[in-house]
Amino acid sequence: MPQIEIKSLNAYYDKLHVLKDVDVKVEKGEIISLIGPSGSGKSSLLKMLVGLLVPKSGEVKINNETINYENKKDLRVVREKIGIVFQQYNLFQNMNVLKNVCIAPTKIQKRDPKQAEEQAVELLEKVGLKDKLKSYPDELSGGQQQRVAIARALCLNPQILLLDEVTSALDPELVQEVLDSIRLLASEGMTMLIVSHEMSFVKEVSSKVIFMDNGSIIEVNDPKLIFESPKEKRTSDFVSKILRDK
Ligand SMILES: Nc1ncnc2c1ncn2[C@@H]1O[C@H](COP(=O)(O)OP(=O)(O)O)[C@@H](O)[C@H]1O
Ligand SMILES: [Mg+2]
Repeated sequence: MPQIEIKSLNAYYDKLHVLKDVDVKVEKGEIISLIGPSGSGKSSLLKMLVGLLVPKSGEVKINNETINYENKKDLRVVREKIGIVFQQYNLFQNMNVLKNVCIAPTKIQKRDPKQAEEQAVELLEKVGLKDKLKSYPDELSGGQQQRVAIARALCLNPQILLLDEVTSALDPELVQEVLDSIRLLASEGMTMLIVSHEMSFVKEVSSKVIFMDNGSIIEVNDPKLIFESPKEKRTSDFVSKILRDK
């Protein structure tokens, strides 16, 4: 049973048809990367999954249960099962690192503060920030802040993690430390949907790569095949352009 199943999904921003008959299946532990030109709908697909863009037609199933995005209870289920991290990490500037990670588990999930804190410390250790627990966001580099944001998402115990260009705002020398944290999660079997421009990383970690253009999925393929021998001309045009620009 797939962990996420999206079938014939269509979504709009007013008149703009942003997701066109999209079908995606994600099995437990799979890492699926979304690539494609700017504006092709990659972020919209992730936003739709967490209820930030309500589909017009089609179906989303999570663990075989159909999600009604207009139903508050279903939205809560979705937000509990799926974590999302964006390019902009949006930490609370007035809270230290530990508090940033613990706040949602204690206030929203109503978990025992001590237990949430223990987990937060563990997660911050995992992303290499053990010595920054009491630091404030403005005392951290972008790469460190983004790793806090990843720990914050993980502290809600999601089954699936969505990462939308999490390294795009970082200085080049800070990209690898964030990718290393994602590699670690991958090795632990976390199910992930990743939007990234780091093509060598995408090739290395993905079980499948989806190429999107203009709201449609054009090709789904093994990472090696999609970069080395894509089936569709639009994929090869995009891939050769992006590899040339590197
Ligand atoms: N909140 C929004 N309101 C209206 N149009 C949007 C909004 N967000 C994105 N779009 C449009 O939807 C299309 C897909 O955007 P997006 O999903 O952000 O693409 P990508 O992540 O692949 O760059 C683009 O044409 C973009 O301008
Ligand atoms: Mg985007």
